[in-house]
Amino acid sequence: MSADTTAINRQMTAFASRDPLWVFGYGSLIFKADFPYLERRPARIRHWVRRFWQGSHDHRGTPEAPGRVVTLVPQQDAVCEGMAYLVRQAVLEHLDFREKNGYLRTLAEMTFADGGTAEGLVYIATPDNAAFLGPAPEEEIARQIARSVGPSGTNRDYLLQLAQALRDLSEHDAHVFAIERHLLALETQERCTAAVTG
Ligand code: SIN
Repeated sequence: MSADTTAINRQMTAFASRDPLWVFGYGSLIFKADFPYLERRPARIRHWVRRFWQGSHDHRGTPEAPGRVVTLVPQQDAVCEGMAYLVRQAVLEHLDFREKNGYLRTLAEMTFADGGTAEGLVYIATPDNAAFLGPAPEEEIARQIARSVGPSGTNRDYLLQLAQALRDLSEHDAHVFAIERHLLALETQERCTAAVTG
């Protein structure tokens, strides 16, 4: 499958009749809502786990030096916390473009804090997309994030903003927080080396 999923997503008619509709964000969509919405509520989806396994060639990296961003990986008994937005159908054009580097529209049942549920659209990058990088040791992921930058800013900011947004949701995501710890340790190490060599 080509990395640019815009055309595939536009053909997904399953979402066409829903207006407004819920969109569930678990990555940058939690902390960067650059689109209008009618309502915003913390929510969770089951059987998916967040992983820094997707390459970013267009936002937090470049085609020559991709960064790493999150996607969802199926896992029985997992719960993924995120943010749900109620948006008008027209917003999908913007989101399809923003998430075009391998993400496909997927339908998932979301549960809100009050126990209510709704179906929501989630952008998921599956292993068959050309930008998928897959698993790597968390320290190695942190190293890649530390050196990556793209048109939307540094990969470091993506990681730190996501970690903070998850803390704000009282969510403990061991994978994200471990990568954050490695990144901050690398930076401390670099500062110490710079101070010594001087
Ligand atoms: C999302 O945030 O829901 C998708 C992944 C991303 O854009 O970081």
